Amino acid sequence: MLLSSKGQEHLLQFYDQLSEEERDSLIHEILSTDFSYVTRFSEKDTPPCRGEIAPLHAMRIEEIRSREEALRAEGLEALRAGQIAAVLLAGGMGTRLGISGPKGCFDIGLTRPVYIFQRLIENLMIRVRECGRFIRLFIMTSDVNDRETQDFFRAHDYFGYDPSFIYFFRQDMAPAVSEDGHILLKSRSSMASSPNGNGGWFLSLQRAGLMDVIEKDGIRFLNVFAVDNVLQSICDPVFIGAVLKSGCASGSKVVKKTSPEEKVGVMCLEDGRPSVIEYYEMTDEMRYRTDAEGRRVYDYGVILNYLFRVPDLMRASGMKLPLHFANKKIPFVDSEGRLVTPDQPNGWKFEYFIFDILKALDSCLPFEVEREREFAPVKNASGQDSVETARALLIKNGIEL
Ligand code: UD1
Repeated sequence: MLLSSKGQEHLLQFYDQLSEEERDSLIHEILSTDFSYVTRFSEKDTPPCRGEIAPLHAMRIEEIRSREEALRAEGLEALRAGQIAAVLLAGGMGTRLGISGPKGCFDIGLTRPVYIFQRLIENLMIRVRECGRFIRLFIMTSDVNDRETQDFFRAHDYFGYDPSFIYFFRQDMAPAVSEDGHILLKSRSSMASSPNGNGGWFLSLQRAGLMDVIEKDGIRFLNVFAVDNVLQSICDPVFIGAVLKSGCASGSKVVKKTSPEEKVGVMCLEDGRPSVIEYYEMTDEMRYRTDAEGRRVYDYGVILNYLFRVPDLMRASGMKLPLHFANKKIPFVDSEGRLVTPDQPNGWKFEYFIFDILKALDSCLPFEVEREREFAPVKNASGQDSVETARALLIKNGIEL
């Protein structure tokens, strides 16, 4: 009944051939699947229209430097009062890097092991020392890497962090569908699925029951950041102080683009609300538009380090986020039950994006940081944003590898 109303009866096509255990597991999977992704599949052909885009001015480095002491003091006070927690997004698959395990377990060391998770914890420890207390750290994993991630942290003694301040939670999974919207089977008794993008983090954190910790501790802001930036500055007191003083519901660390053509999402206002416009959505007129002082107005790219005010997140969490669709090669079993590994994209994965949450909030402070000191993403196996470029930046920042 559930399946026929969604046009997905084919999920039971091998049911008669399954063992009792496989049947139970398939039924359990079906009952715990969120079919709203499939219902929204038709949105793929009608992407939502963008609202009116306008510049959103960033707090620039010169201004930050001139107010640094006062901002730092305000941020440290909030940290010392335990009002800030960190959220590490580590549910992704690391496909571009070409590795199979969790990205955070990747070793970027040269003469000694330097794991990505280790780098992040080392950076967070700087804050712990600065504010004299451990900071709550929520780590989002997914079904594909949860066990390995948790085992890895345990095996490395949490890199010296107090484990009672670390909370792992799993993000939700979304089913993967064929070109015509039918959920693919990855085996006769299991559906193909993938993590539902980094925009689902707050709902997953709520579902994991972690709001209890947040409420009990009086945590007011969450600093959410990506796993892949090995120079990630976490719970930066100056950033926190700036957002607190601005009264904004959120903040976003940004870097000045290397050129108007750089392929990064840019902070802007959309119908008066904070938003990110992707590089491929920008017209040349936008790319090169300058203000009265000749400065380009769409010049600050996001590095995936956000600060969110908790009550505003709670208010926004009921809002429907846009769904993004990625055309991918997805292994599946055919109608004969044979596993097929396609060499061309054959289906679609669904994802929510974190920056779409910004639009549901009233305000955001873009906060400029020095690229060379804070942004060393490890995304690709070689070339731009790769292990080599990240290593070079770490060495430049005096970090032994
Ligand atoms: C991301 C940002 C982009 C930003 C760039 C900076 C999004 C959608 N894109 O791009 O705006 O300019 O970083 O480096 O935010 N993740 C999950 N679960 C998922 C998918 C991703 O936890 O289902 C995590 C990854 O583990 C990683 C982060 O989100 O920590 C970024 O993921 P990725 O999808 O690789 O985004 P980028 O394309 O790198």
